[in-house]
Amino acid sequence: MSFSILAGAADGVGATPAWAMLAYLASGVFFILALRGLSSPATSRAGNRNGMIGMAIALVTTLVTHDIANIIEIGIAIFLGGIIGVTIARKIAMTAMPELVAGFHSLVGMAAVVVGLAAWLNPGAFGILDEAGQILMVSRIELGLGIAIGAITFSGSVIAFLKLSGRMSGSPILLPARHVINLGTIVAIIGIIGFYAVSPDGGPGAGWPIIAITVLAFAIGFLLIIPIGGADMPVVVSMLNSYSGWAAAAMGFTLGNTAMIITGALVGSSGAILSYIMCRAMNRSFISVIAGGFGADDSAGAGGEPREQRPYKQGSADDAAFMLEQAEKVIIIPGYGMAVAQAQHALREMADVLEEKGVEVKYAIHPVAGRMPGHMNVLLAEASVDYDKVFELEDINSEFATADVAFIIGANDVVNPAAKTDKSSPIYGMPVFDVDKAKQVFFIKRSMGGVGYAGVDNDVFYMNQTVMLLSDAKKMVEEIVKALD
Ligand code: TAP
Repeated sequence: MSFSILAGAADGVGATPAWAMLAYLASGVFFILALRGLSSPATSRAGNRNGMIGMAIALVTTLVTHDIANIIEIGIAIFLGGIIGVTIARKIAMTAMPELVAGFHSLVGMAAVVVGLAAWLNPGAFGILDEAGQILMVSRIELGLGIAIGAITFSGSVIAFLKLSGRMSGSPILLPARHVINLGTIVAIIGIIGFYAVSPDGGPGAGWPIIAITVLAFAIGFLLIIPIGGADMPVVVSMLNSYSGWAAAAMGFTLGNTAMIITGALVGSSGAILSYIMCRAMNRSFISVIAGGFGADDSAGAGGEPREQRPYKQGSADDAAFMLEQAEKVIIIPGYGMAVAQAQHALREMADVLEEKGVEVKYAIHPVAGRMPGHMNVLLAEASVDYDKVFELEDINSEFATADVAFIIGANDVVNPAAKTDKSSPIYGMPVFDVDKAKQVFFIKRSMGGVGYAGVDNDVFYMNQTVMLLSDAKKMVEEIVKALD
């Protein structure tokens, strides 16, 4: 049966015992429950707990069933890794989560490369040699694929980390003839894996193909991610999440570890599904994005140009408080700036006061608001906002026509009408909130000079019914709450 094929004759201790296979299966079930739990803020804590239980079962089973050469070294590594993980988790700002995730993906990718290279140099220890002392053909294919996926994940994630953390321009970098170069490199990698699989020179550490695959895959990871930028970055994060899953699954084959194969496949497929959903939500072609910005217009992405001065209205917290308490229906659109200002608690307080005054308050969440999937949902949940007041774009967009106030707090790209009208805009095609249909718009941001992630001007600032509230979001909302009292 398939499990016994996957089970670790390759791990140097013979076949995995039946109880261990059951334990791996149980950890797989916990991982599925974890993914299910993480699909809603209400169940996400339980989801995380299930993930931790699954990982604990998988770890203990692997340690108990393998002939561990040096348990002390492994213990020290787990301890140090645990300390680093806990420290990062405690210190990291919510706004830095996307680059942290990209950074972690790069580690998974590098781990796959290192495991693959170790198996290539010392195949005997992995039980992948045939009687003639050559690496088995199937193992050569696994090694080639594992190293290639791992290296692509590594270099792609490093570029995503640099772009998301602002250490490198977030705009697309479009090399001439990039599609030809990318396609040529991918075909070359596949060709070399095929050549290596049938090569007569397949002994430990033998031949140039593994080195060539490693170098080309590092290069293609870099080349695939640099042309992606602006509004497509969220898709990149979930796509690299998917790649890291496939890299882990490939490692599972090399190490003969069923739990890694199951877990890697779960991460790989859930990341791919998330990328697909995000592409659909943003009106992007999935194939175009994963092919490295295929179809990206070379003229797009002209963010950061000097902007013309246009007249706009500026208001105060008192103006906003006055209009808000007169309203019957207010729709709040949070964005990245709310996360930066940590304004979610003050915002909830403002909504509570308005509700006490009989105003209906709803929250509108764009699928790519903030800097990571579910960013706004997490912050609102942290501030104990009721889930039934939080709506997705497609469920609430038609309601702006009946709203008295659209209250934009730290959002920008997700309300920018250029996405509907300006073909040269880097966000063109992305669905956005129809805030222009609301009777009154309040727009909180710190200055007229600041731009959203895509770096483009926003016509909403200059609309007749828009009042700009130029301030830090938390400070402004706290002042509105005071003015409402
Ligand atoms: P953005 O378009 O990035 O706009 C953020 C706004 O917040 C800016 O107008 C900024 O203006 C303002 N702001 C920043 N700090 C503030 C503070 N302390 N107080 C008040 N305002 C503040 O945000 P968005 O509408 O949420 O759009 C998300 C963008 O990020 C999209 O382009 C999306 O594609 C991209 N992206 C999303 C993800 C995911 S998965 N969600 C991942 C990567 C990229 P000032 O500087 O003038 O204050």
